[in-house]
Amino acid sequence: MDHFEVSNGVLHAEDVALPVIAAEVGTPVYVYSRATLTRHARVFRDALSILPAVKIAFAVKSNPNLAVLKVLAAEGYGADVVSGGEMERALAAGMKPDGIVFSGVGKTEAEMRRGIEAGIGQFNLESEEEGLELAEIAASMGKVASAALRVNPDVDAGTHGKISTGKAENKFGVPFDRAAAIYARLADTPGLNMRGLALHIGSQLSKLDPLEAAFTKVGGLMRAIREGGHAVTHMDLGGGVGVPYKAGEVFPQPAEYAAMVAKVTADWGVTLMFEPGRVITGNTGVLMTQVVRVKEGAGHPWVVVDAAMNDLARPALYDAWHDFAAVEPTGETFVANIVGPICESSDTFAMARTIDKVGRGDLAVFRTAGAYGATMANTYNSRPLVPEVMVDGEKWAVVADRIDPATILAAERVPDFLK
Ligand code: LLP
Repeated sequence: MDHFEVSNGVLHAEDVALPVIAAEVGTPVYVYSRATLTRHARVFRDALSILPAVKIAFAVKSNPNLAVLKVLAAEGYGADVVSGGEMERALAAGMKPDGIVFSGVGKTEAEMRRGIEAGIGQFNLESEEEGLELAEIAASMGKVASAALRVNPDVDAGTHGKISTGKAENKFGVPFDRAAAIYARLADTPGLNMRGLALHIGSQLSKLDPLEAAFTKVGGLMRAIREGGHAVTHMDLGGGVGVPYKAGEVFPQPAEYAAMVAKVTADWGVTLMFEPGRVITGNTGVLMTQVVRVKEGAGHPWVVVDAAMNDLARPALYDAWHDFAAVEPTGETFVANIVGPICESSDTFAMARTIDKVGRGDLAVFRTAGAYGATMANTYNSRPLVPEVMVDGEKWAVVADRIDPATILAAERVPDFLK
């Protein structure tokens, strides 16, 4: 459920008609609904409240906008971060340091040092090498770093290959059959407080079965580690719950997810940690765009919009589907291809799709663009960096400026040897 609805013939974000935003900010622009964000955060949190001890660390990578993080901080969310930059954002948004989890295969020494200094709650270690480095840094600072070991459970998440992370051939975590031994060695290393295991098998999962299989497998590992005499008090079950991108698709609901987790973890006796991203932010945003022109083609007409793969990369990268809707729908539809202005064929949002009839100058949105949208934008073809707006009832504000090409050009230098 979201708060993007047509009222009096015009698509609104909550109580704000989208053309109002387009007139003031221009297009393309991401528009987020605060009410939708809050609702998703609460539904997920409330669903998990059937579990005895829970910590939720929002996957900042899905939408790192400061205003978004502020809303989630107020809902009691911590953060799952994967870079120094994300960590600073989470701290700037007022998230408590001990609610921050630092994941990722390539944490640098400087990032680990800064994380220890800031007092973040948990490092999710992706290798023994990383654990030993972290221990050394912590010890040199006279501190102890809390950590979990990320395990690669070798389970097929059944999602797009490029967003699958839990198969043996993926770079993430330590191999399942070596995990207990690595855990034992790290647990005996001064400077580290090994407190648990972590896993994340992939994103945009449409079924719970792969998650259940992975959790069950890692639960067995947890028992083996305990039998070896080491404590496991925290289990981080990652993110991955998918969302419908096409009207009518059915995805697992947070309550079903929580019930499955409750069943698998009933006798674990740990604090369960979660790292949801898309399920919180996906439906929170749309990308509003304007039709530049409609170009006749050999087949279906080409609807050329002013948003492109640099603004919303998901279709080009993962063949992802985003529903397209006119801001002022007439009820008429046609079959068309939707493309951006960038000079490569991957700048295609849809082919031969039945969509609202749109023409030159019309506004439209790509839906479910709140996760992995603006954050993956870039300036390819010297296009501006897309701005972001948040709506709250009748109020709205720009929460990230459009960075124009002149600003980017001003950061470039012609070296003396070319003068
Ligand atoms: N935890 C870890 C360790 C992760 O790597 C990820 C996502 C998450 C949590 C959050 O996953 P979620 O709940 O959002 O599925 N750019 C891609 C998605 C990449 C996901 C990367 N990791 C896309 O646009 O589909």
